[in-house]
Amino acid sequence: MRILGIETSCDDTCAAITEGARIRSNVISSQAAAHERYGGVVPEVASRHHLELVNPVVDAALSEAGVELDDLDALAVTRGPGLIGALLVGVMTAKALAAAKRKPLVGVDHLHGHVAANFLEPDPLEPPFLCLIASGGHTLLAGVRDRLGFEVLGQTLDDAAGEALDKGARLLGLGYPGGPAVERLAREGDASAFTFPVAMAQDPGLDFSFSGLKTALLYTIRGLEEGEAERRSADLAAAYQAAVVGQLVAKLERAARAGEWDAVALGGGVAANQLLRRRTAELCSGLGLRLKLVPGELCTDNAAMIASAARSLEPSPYPEYLGWDASA
Ligand code: KG4
Ligand code: ZN
Repeated sequence: MRILGIETSCDDTCAAITEGARIRSNVISSQAAAHERYGGVVPEVASRHHLELVNPVVDAALSEAGVELDDLDALAVTRGPGLIGALLVGVMTAKALAAAKRKPLVGVDHLHGHVAANFLEPDPLEPPFLCLIASGGHTLLAGVRDRLGFEVLGQTLDDAAGEALDKGARLLGLGYPGGPAVERLAREGDASAFTFPVAMAQDPGLDFSFSGLKTALLYTIRGLEEGEAERRSADLAAAYQAAVVGQLVAKLERAARAGEWDAVALGGGVAANQLLRRRTAELCSGLGLRLKLVPGELCTDNAAMIASAARSLEPSPYPEYLGWDASA
């Protein structure tokens, strides 16, 4: 199956060509620079950028793979969840391209896409496995028993892990996206210099909570003397990152210890974080579980993961999909 995937749910305009588990091209045009001055994604700005970028990005994915629309077996697109205006650009583009060539179209759930990044080369992972998905909009533990979907074992009750890092970065005066900025600064800091609460650690369930953490950071910064927050920003970043990662790993460990899974995978933008990857690797080697870590560019939003999820789903034939909407 040769599939063109399109992903525009947030602030990355993405198109990719996959053939089975092989990635032929994976083009990502990040809009981060356009949103940085606002300290977060502005939905209307994102939609307008997608509109300008989507055609050149699809063209680049086709030409890098050396294929034409006629060579495709199907197209795939993220239908939700995400920013509605942003999603609509991808959905309408995919519908138009598929209809023009009378090709089938597959609608994909964005989170299923993050899970399906693990089905791609190198080293495709076959279900069953336990997958922690941590991104800017979602944080959940997924039980993956087949390629068709996943079961939510636990999820955040408030903010997502990436959102906590983005908001924390803002409090520390760092740029957007906050996760990579916190990670860079944290490398120079001492995580034990400050203590932030690891929420839900005593909670017996598998749910997460991150909103109290950013409040703790805010009060810590307020309690410092003039100029001290800037001077000790690396320590603050390191301690804050450790608290976010600490909670993710604690819940992953709780789920892994239940004993139902032989393999563990990570997905979503926060899965690019080196501390999380290291701590997860230690956990898995301690418990004797296989660990699958996809490369960083398959953790953050991309269209190869959308095409990968589409591989095992039922395509909708022309013209059934023409009435499709996006779902926020
Ligand atoms: O999956 P993704 O690209 O988009 C969503 O679906 O949300 O995830 C973006 C999130 C942002 O919150 C960003 O700060 C975070 O992933 N992120 C990271 C890193 N790279 C991206 N967080 C921690 N460390 C990183 N290296
Ligand atoms: Zn995502």
